[in-house]
Amino acid sequence: MQVPLVVYYLSLCVATLGVELTPKDWWEKAGFYQIYPRSFKDSDGDGIGDLNGITSKLPYLKELGVRAFWMSPINKSPMVDFGYDISDFRAIQPEYGTMQDFENLVKEAHRLNLKVIMDFVPNHSSDKHEWFIKSEARESGYEDFYVWDDGIPNPAGGRNLPPTNWLQAFRRSAWQWSENRQQYYLHQFTVEQPDLNYRNPVVVREMKDVIRFWLDKGVDGFRVDAVPFLFEVVKLQNGSYPNEPTSGLTIDPEDFDYLDHIYTQNQPETLDMVYQWRELVDQYQQENGGETRVLMTEGYTSLEILREYYVSTTTKKHGSHMPFNFGFIADLNRTSGAFDIVKVIQSWMNIVPQGHAANWVMGNHDRPRVGTRFGEERIDAMNMILLSLPGATVTYQGEEIGMTDVRISWEETVDPAACNAGEALYATKSRDPCRTPFQWDDSAMAGFTSGNRTWLPVGSNYRSINVKVEEAVTKSHLNVYKAMMKLREYKTFRHGSVKTRAYNDNVLAIVRELEDHNTYITLVNLGTKIEVLDGVGLASRLPSKMRFEVVGTSSHHIKGGVMATNDIVLLPYESFVLVAKLSHSDRLHEDICEVWLE
Ligand code: NOJ
Ligand code: MG
Repeated sequence: MQVPLVVYYLSLCVATLGVELTPKDWWEKAGFYQIYPRSFKDSDGDGIGDLNGITSKLPYLKELGVRAFWMSPINKSPMVDFGYDISDFRAIQPEYGTMQDFENLVKEAHRLNLKVIMDFVPNHSSDKHEWFIKSEARESGYEDFYVWDDGIPNPAGGRNLPPTNWLQAFRRSAWQWSENRQQYYLHQFTVEQPDLNYRNPVVVREMKDVIRFWLDKGVDGFRVDAVPFLFEVVKLQNGSYPNEPTSGLTIDPEDFDYLDHIYTQNQPETLDMVYQWRELVDQYQQENGGETRVLMTEGYTSLEILREYYVSTTTKKHGSHMPFNFGFIADLNRTSGAFDIVKVIQSWMNIVPQGHAANWVMGNHDRPRVGTRFGEERIDAMNMILLSLPGATVTYQGEEIGMTDVRISWEETVDPAACNAGEALYATKSRDPCRTPFQWDDSAMAGFTSGNRTWLPVGSNYRSINVKVEEAVTKSHLNVYKAMMKLREYKTFRHGSVKTRAYNDNVLAIVRELEDHNTYITLVNLGTKIEVLDGVGLASRLPSKMRFEVVGTSSHHIKGGVMATNDIVLLPYESFVLVAKLSHSDRLHEDICEVWLE
């Protein structure tokens, strides 16, 4: 395809504006790993992952080279939304283990120098939480813990209608009638996940206490759930809430996307709440010592708002250390080309405020897996792109071995997002396919459990896609991932500049350079054609030949092999990292930074 010249030159930009390239703090260049506890490792044979299972696999994380892991909720929960409906913010879900198991997990992680990040779910609780039960019963002190409303008179008579047209994320009205209280309550997720009322200072205080509780348990930070949803608009003068306008995105009036969520998301108060939580964790560190406790926030929202999550442009208050950058998840898919990827990288770099670190999220438990989203042939390419970029990276469990979405029948479906959509639509909404048990080995149940059933089925490809098999062969997704993680310890990756360049819609180059250090060039071919390119202009002072440093699984090259800089050939879907070594030094290990175990 002929690419307009202007696009071509745009793609040459050095993408370092604002971004902090020299890490000051542990998390700024850390590899983060997301654990979905229900599906990581089962220790007691009930087919459900648990804390002792996680603890037993911490050495695996260590070997991967990650510095920290965040866990989806492990709190007590009726499991309607698999842990995101919490009935006791201070207790552990019994099927996951005990508080002692948790303390042991933290102790063991810290012994291995791994940081532990908890999921903090502030927007809602379970309807089985004692706060909700009391609030529904109008018990004094709890009346306003949730968002209650009479609704609007029904012209046809009978029970009032819901207060507004607002929709919940998993289809249909966000308002549920309570027979007990004779009012509606707001739930932006399932009916069983009532929204807490952040306009009630007692709620704000209680949730801060929850943060302190887990900090006292030794956790190193929080992944904060569903931040844009925290506040709803204040009521109008007439005492009612306004309806939301339609978005034009879908004609299905029950679908969440039917409305433009201007009154239920991203209210100005939300940012202030994030700044308050930041103040809390900073203060905790000052009072208790130790390293920075990190806030990573989940918000699928505009880049302008995410910039404010980092730091307020007006008050300069600090907020989230890592407002999750979902560009790879939300803005790219298998139809995206190299120019699209460059654009996503560039636009994130442009909004990171001066002196702050970038972060890159490649997958999570809510979205299709990398191999399914981009195509199995591009698994190495996407992991290599992720791990070539400056800043913190976030990998969802299983992406390092190239797990793919598992087909789940309607009968097997458990995700409320899918169940609410009904049999005809469930597959378009289901998050079950990316949540199946982790594939450890080629034994029955992929080594996930010793039992004979699992809460979601094990992927049928587990005999070839698993840790054991991939550890044993040189060319595997896992070994590519590990090799990339090792590269990130080199000074060029820690401190060097980054340049992204799309040669054409299939070929992407990421160049990492640092004066007096080796230069590394990640090249990926996203397409089905053989690509030949001249790499001479990619960086300053490139030698006529470069060496292969990391090779993707579809490459026929080997590490240490040589490639002419002016005649780089990429086979279909091939990806590799080339190194241009400093002429006076052939000793790569000199480039390695202080190892994290400082
Ligand atoms: C975002 C979580 O990632 C998702 O799994 C959950 O359903 C919603 N927030 C509600 O907590
Ligand atoms: Mg178990």
